Amino acid sequence: MIALCGDVEIGYEDVGKGLPVVFLHGFPHDRSLWAPQLGALMDRCRCIAPDMRGFGESAVQGPYTMNRYADDVVALLDALHIDRAVIAGLSMGGYIAFAVWRRHRARVRALVLADTRSGADNTEGRAKRRAMIDTVKADGIDPLVDAQVNGMLGKTTREKHPELIEYVRRMLARSPAEGVVGALEAMIARPDSTEMLATIDVPTLIVVGDEDVLTPPKDSRAMHEAIRGSRLEVLAGAGHLSNLERPAAFNHVVSEFVSVLTYA
Ligand code: MLT
Repeated sequence: MIALCGDVEIGYEDVGKGLPVVFLHGFPHDRSLWAPQLGALMDRCRCIAPDMRGFGESAVQGPYTMNRYADDVVALLDALHIDRAVIAGLSMGGYIAFAVWRRHRARVRALVLADTRSGADNTEGRAKRRAMIDTVKADGIDPLVDAQVNGMLGKTTREKHPELIEYVRRMLARSPAEGVVGALEAMIARPDSTEMLATIDVPTLIVVGDEDVLTPPKDSRAMHEAIRGSRLEVLAGAGHLSNLERPAAFNHVVSEFVSVLTYA
């Protein structure tokens, strides 16, 4: 489906009934990242998964900033007449979830922070992203696909589920170059959200794969210590895309988490 959200067309899925949960994909993904969740959780809650602008079926249209992505998410909630939702973000989706909290916390019923981190990029991280921008501008997305795909999946998945390598490779490869460059710029410019963690006073579930090398479990433990009352789940044998790599375990913890939330 496509909704006009402010000035931008946003592609999204909307399946199931009950408590709305908005699933925000990472970089450089699209909403198909969440296919294993939508199929399994639609019996428990209303699952909404947008493509962020510049990805999937959403318009390739700047500006690309974390704030703008967050405003797009809230504009989609408005378009769907949803007052408050659980905001679930994986990696860059988590950075967007922090921006939603910073700017629109009244719209957040609860948070799921998957394979993400609260810190901003350091100097080295920013330099790496600038190099990626130069590569994509010069040669397109293909060189990035190989560089990213192995780091995204854990060792166990790469050994036992080679079909997922192909699934992720295809998802990465169809990302528009402009959306990829825009997201890299948005991530470079994103603020450090660590101080803000103490302000989070909604139920929060933190999930991470124990083989995640991009946002390792220590980052999740630090967020867990900083967010009062949060719950941490470390999924064995999963890398950075824990929702795809251990879908049953991921769905189980999310399902348990949302089942005790009332739609208020
Ligand atoms: C992601 O999966 O969204 C990326 O690993 C985030 C990042 O590059 O910081």
